[in-house]
Amino acid sequence: MERPDTELLIRLAEGEGADLLASLPPYDEDAALALGTRLRAEGHEPALVAAALTQSRLRAAARPRLGPLADRLLLTQDGLEQATRPAVAARRALRWRATGVAHVWDLGCGLGLDARGLAEAGLQVTAVESDPAVSVAARANLADLAGVEVRVGDATRVSVGPDDGAFLDPARRTPGVADVRGRTRRVFRLEELSPSWTVVQQVAVDAAATGAKLSPGFPHAHLPAGTEAEWVSVDGSVVECAVWWRAAVRNAGRRAVVGTTDPFGEVRWVEVDAPDSEAEPLDDPADLGPFLAEPDRAVLAAGRVDALTALTGGRELDHGTGYVSAPAVTPLPWARWYAVREVLPLHAKMVRGWLRQRGFGRVTIKKRGVPTDPDRFRTELRLRPGRAGSAEAVLVLTRVAGTPVAVVVEPVQAT
Ligand SMILES: C[S@@+](CC[C@H](N)C(=O)[O-])C[C@H]1O[C@@H](n2cnc3c(N)ncnc32)[C@H](O)[C@@H]1O
Repeated sequence: MERPDTELLIRLAEGEGADLLASLPPYDEDAALALGTRLRAEGHEPALVAAALTQSRLRAAARPRLGPLADRLLLTQDGLEQATRPAVAARRALRWRATGVAHVWDLGCGLGLDARGLAEAGLQVTAVESDPAVSVAARANLADLAGVEVRVGDATRVSVGPDDGAFLDPARRTPGVADVRGRTRRVFRLEELSPSWTVVQQVAVDAAATGAKLSPGFPHAHLPAGTEAEWVSVDGSVVECAVWWRAAVRNAGRRAVVGTTDPFGEVRWVEVDAPDSEAEPLDDPADLGPFLAEPDRAVLAAGRVDALTALTGGRELDHGTGYVSAPAVTPLPWARWYAVREVLPLHAKMVRGWLRQRGFGRVTIKKRGVPTDPDRFRTELRLRPGRAGSAEAVLVLTRVAGTPVAVVVEPVQAT
């Protein structure tokens, strides 16, 4: 992967480069070549034209995730892939206000999306970034906000004071090292993060309050005692696990936070919380139903399916499946509901017979807790839309009390 050029980013941040970038039409891949040729013919330096077109392309790619703000940012490919969504950064920043901390170090600030959220919430921010090109972008991206300083340097050398807050969103990429697809290599081990997990925990000892953004796959067993961890989803995708220490902790433990974008583009947040449930999973497939609930993925990632069983009076189908059998529908903004029509053994032949008899020619397959390959299972069903019938059935392939089952369900609107 090509590293961004610091000089060119500096030139795009102001003067001729910024004017050139501002003059570009909305990015259109098919027109980019001709546009480049025209701009060079008009006398713009080829390297600057190429850099401006790269920014234009990156902004277009950023818009779905970063919204209209994308058009005001300087971006790098890696920086964009790791940048926090503005709504997530804004929600995170609110927590700092309750900590009593006035100054927060953003240790590894990337393009500065989290630092923006902090500054917009009224905190003093010192943002540190080791990559010179990225720090140029961060400085440009934060220039409109008061109370933020961007420093280039190694965040692990910063000494965080006892009254300071610290935020770390460690890089999960190895800059300059490409994977087989030519993208920057991802890292998966906690110690490969930069700054490393050990550094994060050391900072958390020194600072009055610390927050860290980690991967959604963060292992529960690694959560330090006394911390609070939030698995955050936006529109059904789990985007991060945020861990909080000391004054930033409200309730120690694991929880899910579910965001849904409303028709106006605003993200509405729901914190999933419930008293601990002692409900044991089902012990017989015959007990499944009459309703089945499926929680948002953040609830699964947080390991808090017990919140769903507690709030619905239900029982999980089996440990770790995430599906809950319930006596009635309980409307929850973070759960989908289904009426259970039939519980069948997980055998393609039996499921095929049941579906054909009832005129189902198509299926949507959901699966958790069994090793079955859904595509293969679909092929084995040999359904022929139009001949057997055109109705669509929803199949949940999972297990109950250790027994693999195919549950035929119908979506229910929970109002
Ligand atoms: C995941 S990104 C931060 C993204 C940022 N929170 C945002 O939303 O825009 C992590 C950044 O940390 C930087 N970094 C990694 N190790 C660092 C270190 N030791 N000192 C300073 N910056 C570091 C990387 O260059 C990268 O830009």
